[in-house]
Amino acid sequence: MDFVEQLKSSVDIVKTIQGYGVKLKRMGSTGRYLGLCPFHSEKTPSFNVNATMQRYKCFGCGVGGDVLNFVMELERISFFEALKLLAETNGIAMPKREYSDPDSKLRGALFEMHEIAASTFHANLKGPAGTEARNYLASRSVTPEQIEEFGLGVSEASGQQLTRRFEGRFAAEALEASGLVLKRQDGSGFFDRFRGRLMFPIHNESGKVIGFGGRAMKSGEEPKYLNSSDSPLYTKRNVLYNLHRAKDAVYKSGYSILVEGYMDVIGVYSAGVRNVVASCGTALTNNQVRAVKRHSDRIVVNFDPDTAGATAAEKSIQMLLDEGMHVRVLELEGDLDPDEYVKEVGAEAYRSRLEKAPAYFHWLADRARKKFDMRTVEGRLEGFKFVAPAIQRISDRLERFAVANDVADYLGVDEKLVRDYFAKGSEERRQVSHGPQVPPYERLLLNSLLVSQAARDAVIPPLSEMIVVDRFVTKNVFRALFALHTDSTEFRFSDLEGRLSDADRDLLSAVVFADEVLEEEKAREQALSCLRSLKAQDPKAEVAALRAQVKAAERDGNLAEALRLAEELNRRSRREPSQQL
Ligand code: UTP
Ligand code: MN
Repeated sequence: MDFVEQLKSSVDIVKTIQGYGVKLKRMGSTGRYLGLCPFHSEKTPSFNVNATMQRYKCFGCGVGGDVLNFVMELERISFFEALKLLAETNGIAMPKREYSDPDSKLRGALFEMHEIAASTFHANLKGPAGTEARNYLASRSVTPEQIEEFGLGVSEASGQQLTRRFEGRFAAEALEASGLVLKRQDGSGFFDRFRGRLMFPIHNESGKVIGFGGRAMKSGEEPKYLNSSDSPLYTKRNVLYNLHRAKDAVYKSGYSILVEGYMDVIGVYSAGVRNVVASCGTALTNNQVRAVKRHSDRIVVNFDPDTAGATAAEKSIQMLLDEGMHVRVLELEGDLDPDEYVKEVGAEAYRSRLEKAPAYFHWLADRARKKFDMRTVEGRLEGFKFVAPAIQRISDRLERFAVANDVADYLGVDEKLVRDYFAKGSEERRQVSHGPQVPPYERLLLNSLLVSQAARDAVIPPLSEMIVVDRFVTKNVFRALFALHTDSTEFRFSDLEGRLSDADRDLLSAVVFADEVLEEEKAREQALSCLRSLKAQDPKAEVAALRAQVKAAERDGNLAEALRLAEELNRRSRREPSQQL
């Protein structure tokens, strides 16, 4: 068995997937699990995991594969990195050399460069050259503990420090791809991208540094924040600042807090509220939402009180609702951003405001109350209409009605009016398709053959002779299974898949996830019973069986019986072509 197979067979796919915060519910008998898909937004679970096959499949968005595919997709890393990660987290020694590809070599170099950069910046801050930055941080009440916790640093003003460390050690290609150094216009080498800035390392979900945010320390210096450019490691739009530190707390507390800036994260985190994340200066994207949603589908949005903050909050909230998140809104009094609030009013006050943060629709209704005259029927209705478009966007019908009634109640609007309002034009979102249709007996037979060697040994030889198989929706899967059975004594699911086209592989997944997994002991019996009923349908097999019976009767000298059977055989043979099964 090669290393990949060995790893796959010793890693538990269910545990691995659960480790990423995906809640899986065990379905009845052995081996089957169901949950909400981490790769797309859904309310009804269509994400299937089959422990017996060690496969996952989502019938909502179509993703599927083995444990390696899962880690690759979710972490957005290469095959080799996924292999390494799984080996590491499961304490499996990885054979050296054998697995190196150019892609992961470059990424490996980039990870190393980021590690060097982070420790260089951090050492700068603590050393003699760090006085100005230390004073700046002290003036903003950032403690030495916070500096350590967040790995803060400062970049040297000369613009030469990183370049010198990298040149000669990494290829020019890696330097260019890193986003940490820039090429000189005249082509005479490189210089550092970040110069004289306060440095915030940005990590991926597994805690590796993949980029930086650099803040100017003098007021008026533009831009205020300079971020790493996108690189093979870092896609600004996909990363949430602090998620790797926050994720456990998000899972445990059952919600996350979204703030705008790096300093807000540090301020709030240090107030003992650890489930806090920020986007890195971009509008929130659905990939970011999905990243945090894997740990909890509830979130508190706590943006800056200025107009830019309010606009950002509104857009982010729409995105969050569209992704099926439950949103609360924390608006802090006194025109303070979260960082300032914690420092000026206090950690305890922040935590208590956080606890009391209203659900988004109540918050919106409160705004409506201030905007319209709630003493009149017209005003109340206007108020409701102000909130209604947001309610309309809730994809789940029951939830939409519940929220609508709740808001109507809160604003003092007649519930019947609300029902009428929503009766028009409320359309259910696209229903998730549950994959191709495979007849039950075909599913049962295939599943039996997949789980049991005894079933395969007993059923494949006669079954492969039967023409009825060619009428199966999954005939290619069966044919591949037959060929595999002939070619090798050992059965491996991945070998079977290897012999299939993409379409047939999808069919196989549909079958594997469609039924409860059979118990191995019952599989042979089940497969044999399928075979018997197929025989009854298989004209050729029937004819062959009759012919054998005729011969047997003749041999036994039972001529009357032989004659009767021969007549029957005649009838069948004549009927067969017209039956065209
Ligand atoms: P803010 O201007 O609110 O800064 O930008 P801040 O986080 O409160 O920082 P301090 O308190 O002034 O030091 C919020 C976030 O927007 C991004 C950064 O991620 C920042 O944390 N940003 C801001 C940029 O990317 N570029 C900029 O020029 C400004
Ligand atoms: Mn701030």
